[in-house]
Amino acid sequence: AACEKPDVDAAVAAARRAFDSGPWTKMRPNERSRIIWKIGDLILKYTEELAQLESIDNGKPIAVARGADVVLAADIFHYMAGWATKIEGSVLDLSVHYTPGIEYQAFTRKEPIGVVAQIIPWNFPLLMAAWKLAPVLASGCVVVMKLAEETPMSGLFLAQIMQEAGVPDGVVNMLTGFGETCGAPLAAHPNVDKVAFTGSTEVGKLIVKAASNDLKKVTLELGGKSPNIILEDADLDVAIAGAAMGIFFNHGQACCAGSRLFVQEKIFDKVVAGIADIGKKIKLGPGLDPSTEMGPMVSQTQYDRVSGFLTSGREQGATALCGGKPVTGNGYFIEPTVLVNTNDQMKVVQEEIFGPVLTAMPFKNVDEELIRRANDSLYGLAAGIFTTNINKAHKIANRLKAGTVWVNCYNIFDASMPFGGYKQSGWGREMGHEVLKNYLETKSVCVSLGAAI
Ligand code: NAI
Ligand code: MG
Repeated sequence: AACEKPDVDAAVAAARRAFDSGPWTKMRPNERSRIIWKIGDLILKYTEELAQLESIDNGKPIAVARGADVVLAADIFHYMAGWATKIEGSVLDLSVHYTPGIEYQAFTRKEPIGVVAQIIPWNFPLLMAAWKLAPVLASGCVVVMKLAEETPMSGLFLAQIMQEAGVPDGVVNMLTGFGETCGAPLAAHPNVDKVAFTGSTEVGKLIVKAASNDLKKVTLELGGKSPNIILEDADLDVAIAGAAMGIFFNHGQACCAGSRLFVQEKIFDKVVAGIADIGKKIKLGPGLDPSTEMGPMVSQTQYDRVSGFLTSGREQGATALCGGKPVTGNGYFIEPTVLVNTNDQMKVVQEEIFGPVLTAMPFKNVDEELIRRANDSLYGLAAGIFTTNINKAHKIANRLKAGTVWVNCYNIFDASMPFGGYKQSGWGREMGHEVLKNYLETKSVCVSLGAAI
């Protein structure tokens, strides 16, 4: 169903009712915790159903959906179940003494912000829903979520799972529909207290505008063009495999994809040849075929978009060590691609491609110049460093403007580890206890204790 404004109004009204007068806000934290935990258990119980839906809808290999998307989605609910009982303020000793002899005591309460609107993309449909919904439930908020138009199925199944787990009516409301006709009215809705968005930086800016009417709180998880740096002292097997996974995982349709590779001159040829070898061997095919290692792009639009970048790269002088073309024929397949003879100014190096396309560039020394080039992006979501030198690893990690830095690994996610971006990669963080801040208001309660005893 393509929901529009009247459906948005109905969903927000249901959420408002549930928040203002429903059982959810009156429920004790340990009851909420048990429900959230059960959602995690049920996700694991329905692994096969969820993995199939994800693979059919998005095109990703079913083994990946099973082993990564579903497992990580369950994890965040189990992790957040623990936080529901650990949300606390603090007691403050005040220094004021307006009236001699009068003492004050103050404390802070952490209260759920209210009705949250969440809008998510299609690249990890279930996981993005889970990352966003679990902290909402732990904080005691209620939510209206708009699923991506390309991939609504696992989110709808998740809503069913939530009902089975005992989430009361009105607490989680799912909308299917398009961005402009469903997402935009949701982001601007006067009865929504907070908007959390994951998607393109372009739409992130529209969300901020929509929310600015009544100054709703906003968090954003947006695009990236993440640098991956390989030093000449790296364990090359680890670095080559890590760099390949960094760009080819999820067909490169990942906001944190390690898409700008910087390799120290001496080992450049060996490293890029190694990554290209891996790229050439990746088996493309339909997601449900168990032997498939990489599926198709999610849609014709994304296929055209990535194809356009490949053309642009070629026109600006880049050469492909592997791939370099869309696969013609059945399906939206793009060959895993490693581009060399690229420079920092090219469109393929500056813009987010969101496909299995790596741009590789050599560097001479580990110095200011390398750090400057790695940070030369309007994004700052993630970065990778491969080295066996612990000093350099930490020094470089500290200098990179990125929300996550992986050392000798890439694309490692954990429910406890905050994820989000510097610069135009977003506002705020997902996961960890940090994400709870997005959904809680702090109230200071100041009590006069009267004159001293
Ligand atoms: P998008 O940002 O348009 O879509 C993401 C979500 O926002 C979808 O649910 C969509 O319906 C919704 N949306 C679109 N326009 C909206 C509006 N005006 N108001 C409210 N909601 C709106 O991303 P799209 O078009 O699917 O992909 C375009 C590019 O964005 C990709 O090639 C990629 O570079 C980037 N992207 C980044 C993602 C990330 O994880 N950071 C995820 C998806 C896309
Ligand atoms: Mg769009």
